[in-house]
Amino acid sequence: MNDTVTPHVSAALVAQTVKNAITSRKSTRAFLSHPVEDSLIDELLQIAGTAPSGSNVQPWQVHVVTGPARDRLSQALLAAHQAGEPEAREYHYYPRKWRSPYIDRRRATGWGLYGLLGIEKGDREASARQHGRNYEFFGAPVVLIFTIDRDLEVGSWLDYGMFLQNIMVAARGFGLHSCPQAALANYPKIVKQQLGIGDDQMIVCGMSLGYEDTQDPVNRFQPRRMALDEFVRHHRE
Ligand SMILES: Cc1cc2nc3c(=O)[nH]c(=O)nc-3n(C[C@H](O)[C@H](O)[C@H](O)COP(=O)(O)O)c2cc1C
Repeated sequence: MNDTVTPHVSAALVAQTVKNAITSRKSTRAFLSHPVEDSLIDELLQIAGTAPSGSNVQPWQVHVVTGPARDRLSQALLAAHQAGEPEAREYHYYPRKWRSPYIDRRRATGWGLYGLLGIEKGDREASARQHGRNYEFFGAPVVLIFTIDRDLEVGSWLDYGMFLQNIMVAARGFGLHSCPQAALANYPKIVKQQLGIGDDQMIVCGMSLGYEDTQDPVNRFQPRRMALDEFVRHHRE
């Protein structure tokens, strides 16, 4: 497993393959119903589990939800969303007070996505409906729910991000796409009740996984990234 690159594969090909896997990942918000083999999901998670973590703590725990269990979870979340019954999240994902430049990026992303779907600013009903697609896992046959022991510290959440990115990048190697979803941590009680997860765990987020519906325009959305000079400074002298 640690023996990284097969000797006869050229370095250029490896570089291109890695780049393709990283840059072809995108948050996919429409999936085909085509199922994903359990063995493939296991292989993906095994690969992702090689992620680094401080002192090799490996804080990740994954619930793979498919079939009728997936449908039950979706129905329970969707019902709560439609009833407008918010739960208290277990951690703050976003800043408590939004400010520039983050609020600007957030707005550009939200309006960009909704604009592509023909949802006008201020159309709350259509916005809520699109948000509700999170709870249908955008049609994906697989949803992963990620939990962490409540007593772990912020460093373990840093480790967790590397594990999550590994899943999404490795998924590309199997022709799969993904959407990481903080929205699935909006209803921690429902998720825990559905999956029999104890309160010693926190719901980190979820992830929809499956094959992209390439016909759906939502998957053409490409939010802008910063130019290099917006986030990099060199210190040489
Ligand atoms: C931890 C995390 C949680 C996210 N939660 C959601 C979510 O709940 N729903 C959603 O549609 N997108 C979600 N996203 C996707 C982001 O909106 C997306 O990554 C960002 O706009 C950049 O687009 P890209 O992933 O297509 O490159 C999340 C991304 C991350 C990393």
